[in-house]
Amino acid sequence: MRQSSLVVVANRLPLDDNVAPDGACEWRRNPGGLASALHSILRQAPATWVGWAGGAGPPRPLPDIGTLRLRSVALTEDELRGYYEGFANSTLWPLYHDAVEPPLFDRGWWETYLVVNRRFAEAAAEVAEQGAAVWVQDYHLQLVPEMLRQMRPDLLIGFFMHVPFPPPELFMQLPRRAELLRGMLGADLVGFQRPQAAHNIAQLATKLLGAQANDRTITLGGRTTRTGAFPVSIDVAEMQALAARPDVVAHARELRGLLGQPRRILLSVDRLDYTKGIEHRLTAYRELLRDGLVKVRDTVLVQVAVPSRERVESYRTLRDRIEGEVGRINGEYGRVGEPAIHYLIQPFDRAELAALYQTADVMVVTPLRDGMNLVAKEFVAAREDGSGALVLSEFAGAADELNDAFLVNPHDVEGLKDTLLRAMEAEPADLATRMERMRAHLRSHDIMAWARDYLSTLDHTGRLAERLA
Ligand code: UDP
Ligand code: G6P
Repeated sequence: MRQSSLVVVANRLPLDDNVAPDGACEWRRNPGGLASALHSILRQAPATWVGWAGGAGPPRPLPDIGTLRLRSVALTEDELRGYYEGFANSTLWPLYHDAVEPPLFDRGWWETYLVVNRRFAEAAAEVAEQGAAVWVQDYHLQLVPEMLRQMRPDLLIGFFMHVPFPPPELFMQLPRRAELLRGMLGADLVGFQRPQAAHNIAQLATKLLGAQANDRTITLGGRTTRTGAFPVSIDVAEMQALAARPDVVAHARELRGLLGQPRRILLSVDRLDYTKGIEHRLTAYRELLRDGLVKVRDTVLVQVAVPSRERVESYRTLRDRIEGEVGRINGEYGRVGEPAIHYLIQPFDRAELAALYQTADVMVVTPLRDGMNLVAKEFVAAREDGSGALVLSEFAGAADELNDAFLVNPHDVEGLKDTLLRAMEAEPADLATRMERMRAHLRSHDIMAWARDYLSTLDHTGRLAERLA
């Protein structure tokens, strides 16, 4: 295996090994924020991406995707359960998202998390050339920085947490909290989406490990780790170019026709996850219909819900609840040929998403907690003509930057209903002003700016950032 001077390590590779409905195998782009963001900066880079291709057992040979080299890490069925579905997505994910779903603590999962983190660290050590930079991503791989430092002290090690990093009250519940923290602090730079997270880790490092810490540096055992906020973003130019493509524009027009224009179109695009606030949103929409404040004659909601982590029970029960509620709303308020909600439980490719974003009068992004939420940023980038409203949860990282959106607390159903109505009834001139400000922000804070900012903080010289696309 050839070695690289820049290695990215993430649980996911940018491509998933999928089984199509007809049983054929196919490689698909992963519909998740991390894979979207990293793929756009790395696709032309002379770098190696270490990750898992989905599924259990020996992976199929990976396709050649150009300059970027892929190195897969295989998981057994037991590891898939203990590491990915278990410790990562049933313990850490719910805990880090404010425990909106109770985190599960299973002693066996920790051992598997440890074993799999070591495998990722070994794969990274193998493909990193002398003095290389290794950039480790997200909550699945929190132990990798420390493991890698022990294996390869010559490396420059970065870590970025894409999800929220919780306050001490929550983190302290974790049975293996000190090990997890020490694992991350093996990095030279630990990056987060929001400044509060850097404050949280400083408090935790002091309390749990007796480190010397402030919101920018943590010193432990004579070594200093820097921390900071680096809000992740999207490939703005790519989304703008997609949105301007004649076939995408034509498809958007066709969709508007199919949805019964001049009906007002509300759009939500989420992975089917309990953090995304889909149930709260449906409650608000049902009550607006019940109270006659919204009529199916002139308004429709399109809810894209991409299946996610389907073997984890809380995701299955969520899906059942959502589908029950969508059925109820359509049954009670829909009319022949005019459903109240179009519910699409399938992944869309980026061109289809760009068309959908252009059809929406109101984009409704109301997670209960979200590290960033790239969908909100993609919607803004797709709205060249300055029309359209964004309703955005204040609990999404994106709310720090997109403060010209209609910000809302999604737990407050009355507030959510009022905000949806305000967004639906806003004056076009007001919307245009808001949209232009958000677009201007995104133009100067796109995904390349994020990567440059992070990597030049990691290596001080700017040389690392030059290796990107
Ligand atoms: N996405 C996609 N197809 C879909 C739905 C979503 O490709 O049908 C992409 C979307 O464009 C975005 C990412 O998946 O880039 C979702 O990122 P986000 O930060 O909004 O949420 P996450 O899923 O990472 O929690
Ligand atoms: C979030 C996480 C990513 C993850 C993505 C999709 O964005 O931060 O690490 O890849 O969700 O979830 P999945 O479990 O399918 O990888």
